Amino acid sequence: MAEEKKNRDGFGSKIGIIAAAAGSAIGLGNIYRFPCELGNNGGAAFLLVYLAVVLFLGLPVMLSELVIGRRTQSNPVGAFKKLAPKSAWPVVGYLGVLCGFIILAFYSTVAGWTLEYIVKSVGNSFSGKDLSVIEQDFVDFHNTGWRNVMWQVVFIFLTGFVVFKGVQNGIERYSKILMPLLLVILVILGIRSVTLPGAKEGVAFLFRPDFSKITGKVLISALGQGFFSLSLGMGALITYGSYIKKNDNLTTTALSVTLSDTLIAILAGVVIFPAAFSFGVKPTAGMGLVFNTIPMIFNQMVGGYWFCIIFFVLLAIAALTSTISLLEVVVAYLSEELRLKRQTATVLACLLALLVGCFASLSLKEGTPFVLGGRTVFDAMDFVSSNIMLPLGGLLIVIFVGWKLGKSKFFDEISNEGKLKAPVKSLVFFIIRYLAPIAIAIIFYEGLFA
Ligand code: TRP
Repeated sequence: MAEEKKNRDGFGSKIGIIAAAAGSAIGLGNIYRFPCELGNNGGAAFLLVYLAVVLFLGLPVMLSELVIGRRTQSNPVGAFKKLAPKSAWPVVGYLGVLCGFIILAFYSTVAGWTLEYIVKSVGNSFSGKDLSVIEQDFVDFHNTGWRNVMWQVVFIFLTGFVVFKGVQNGIERYSKILMPLLLVILVILGIRSVTLPGAKEGVAFLFRPDFSKITGKVLISALGQGFFSLSLGMGALITYGSYIKKNDNLTTTALSVTLSDTLIAILAGVVIFPAAFSFGVKPTAGMGLVFNTIPMIFNQMVGGYWFCIIFFVLLAIAALTSTISLLEVVVAYLSEELRLKRQTATVLACLLALLVGCFASLSLKEGTPFVLGGRTVFDAMDFVSSNIMLPLGGLLIVIFVGWKLGKSKFFDEISNEGKLKAPVKSLVFFIIRYLAPIAIAIIFYEGLFA
């Protein structure tokens, strides 16, 4: 393979792309953010809207991003420059790079918690404790401030280290084995959770929809969560698409990634809600919902000590494969457009993410001064990036593919210049051109302005 090496890295094997893209998609968004959003948005009704979003909007946006990326072999900014020179379209790319940067800044806060929880579980510091004590420990942890920032530094350092080494060796190797392992452990946890006393109510909360709960806020939250979880709307999959080879099948890649990501999210719901209801954690508990409920489940399990360690290690790795994809977008932009050395770009992006990100961590202390528009800096960054920037990016991306790139180039790309059948391509293009832009625009309006 060495003689094939060009100046741009690529994914080596088919499973490599799927693993890397799934690695980007599967992360704290599934296991931490999804249950929080579902709990705050009325339960099962949210799940239904979420599934519709994933199927009708997520999949088309994902395909659009992969098409743009593979066609141009570029970072998001360069991609739009190539496809629409001398136009305003590269702004979508800039928006994406900025958004990736913001997500990296607050995502690394929560990612840092996973490291704290690995240390806690190794030290056996949950066992035999009541919920109230575990909850207090979580609050105390945030109140130190510095401990949060310390783990955030460690996590960004780990991310930088992998990206520093380049795409192929960096990303592919880690995600292949570990994500299926995460799935296995979630299944085991889910079984324990639904068999806890009083779990039924939680199952109903997750699966029995109350349609009257669907409001504009639920719609926009589900849209934001769908894009967040699938890593859409800011060019992460444009960047990953740019590393995909010409003979790989984009449609099956998109399908596998979407399916596995959604499966993990639903499983996380099955783990969290039955147990939360059983222990008396409120579904609206937010940050503590996942981080307090999970140790409590392990407390009720044979071998819980070991499972708990393994779980948080896997969660940290799932988060890592996601932060890698976020950092990768920023680094690809800095190195290709601004011509920085890849290594310089990585160090610069990490330092900047830390500088901004530490305010997200410090904003979780009780009585924090870091508040923006009535929200903590952490929540503000999350809200602006996930509920505004990602849907806006997704909207512009489908409009671009549907109206500017056009049908024939889109067909060319998803059928590998006619070599693949791509049976439903007309339907998919119809959705990209009409349905997706209209639906996203309506949800946007309903969620933010109505
Ligand atoms: N999808 C990841 C998760 O669920 C987070 C993430 C990684 C992301 N890359 C992204 C979100 C790009 C939006 C855009 O944890």
